[in-house]
Amino acid sequence: MGIQSEQLLDQENYRGLEFFDTFLGNAKKYDNVLVMSNNKRELSNVSFDFVRYANCWEDADVLTEALEVQQGEKVLSIASAGDNSFSLLINQPEVVVAVDVNPIQLHLIELKRLAIKYMSQEEYLAFVGFVLADPKEKLKTYERLKSELSSEARAYWDQKTDAIEKGIINDGKFERYFRMFAKRVVPLIHSRKTTLKLMEEKDAQAQIDFYNDKWHTWRWKWFFKTFFSNKVMGWLGRDPSFLNEVEGSVSTFILNKAKEHLSSVYCQDNLFLNYAMTGKFLGKLPHYCQEGNYERVKENIDALVLFKGLVQDVAPKYNGFHAFNLSNIFEYLNEDITTGVAKSLEELAAPGARVAYWNLMVDRFLSNYNPKFQYQKEKSESFSERDKGFFYKRFVLDLL
Ligand SMILES: C[S@@+](CC[C@H](N)C(=O)[O-])C[C@H]1O[C@@H](n2cnc3c(N)ncnc32)[C@H](O)[C@@H]1O
Repeated sequence: MGIQSEQLLDQENYRGLEFFDTFLGNAKKYDNVLVMSNNKRELSNVSFDFVRYANCWEDADVLTEALEVQQGEKVLSIASAGDNSFSLLINQPEVVVAVDVNPIQLHLIELKRLAIKYMSQEEYLAFVGFVLADPKEKLKTYERLKSELSSEARAYWDQKTDAIEKGIINDGKFERYFRMFAKRVVPLIHSRKTTLKLMEEKDAQAQIDFYNDKWHTWRWKWFFKTFFSNKVMGWLGRDPSFLNEVEGSVSTFILNKAKEHLSSVYCQDNLFLNYAMTGKFLGKLPHYCQEGNYERVKENIDALVLFKGLVQDVAPKYNGFHAFNLSNIFEYLNEDITTGVAKSLEELAAPGARVAYWNLMVDRFLSNYNPKFQYQKEKSESFSERDKGFFYKRFVLDLL
């Protein structure tokens, strides 16, 4: 065996491993999610000085189809990088409130929102970094836009001109890990040719055969067993209480999720997978900036409102929400907090509201914490099957 675990844990590759930890969302060390300590709500190890997610890594096709937002409705959406909140503007809701505890994520959305407002799709793709463009032109564009940013967002972006030159969709911590993974880890497992072949168009049986014959090698299995072993998780400083919430072996869980997706035709049209495997979107665009969608987002861009704080604290002036995008915020909330959040959400909702969220590794069904939430099992399972975020345990749709 050519790869030793020591090798994988040298300085450079440690950052690759750190990627997985963020990928799985280690609340204590790398992510700004809520954790509980002595019954107090607190943000732990949160650094609010850089963008964590420059793109949303949750499937907007699944989200928009599940929530079926109608004209004139009110939507509450976890902000993250903004992309999925933009997508929810497409059917002309009255308002989409994008909420985040991390102000830097909101600064990112402010800049994207302004760019969408004033730019054509082609100009936008160049400015944010989906297509190659002259860095100096991007800076000039920023100079033209910046007077309409809030003073906090302007102060942030004024000192991040390097990120603007690179393209703001490439400058998230999460995206850096993905690129590190694509550059340093994937080549240890498969050649670029094999990697691209995995994602090439082919029929269902050919995909299964390719996975079994070419992809599911000892290196692939070893890689998963090593990276997701409890030992490596321990080296990464994972909080044991987090693992306590996870049923069964983490490595087996991830390997099975990957197997399911990579042996299905759904993996052939997956921009998340493209980025994780190659460090590039390979010409695919997120839902909100695809042709047709972009123009509809742009038409309704002024309906996007930003709110800094916790989702459960969104000001009452916005209540009566018809649809909720809750990302995977329940991952680390203990059962008491989840019950409290479920109660607050019920109070913010209009009758018949639709509520969407993801479980990464921990089972969190709001219906278990508040009987007003009705789990839509059949629909949720069918959306989960084709979810591009194949690493999530499930997508959940509830009705209120
Ligand atoms: C839960 S994380 C998950 C990221 C996600 N997987 C993605 O694809 O972008 C998304 C955002 O939620 C924010 N967040 C987490 N818990 C929150 C809460 N209770 N209220 C508001 N924002 C929250 C974080 O700051 C982060 O920017």
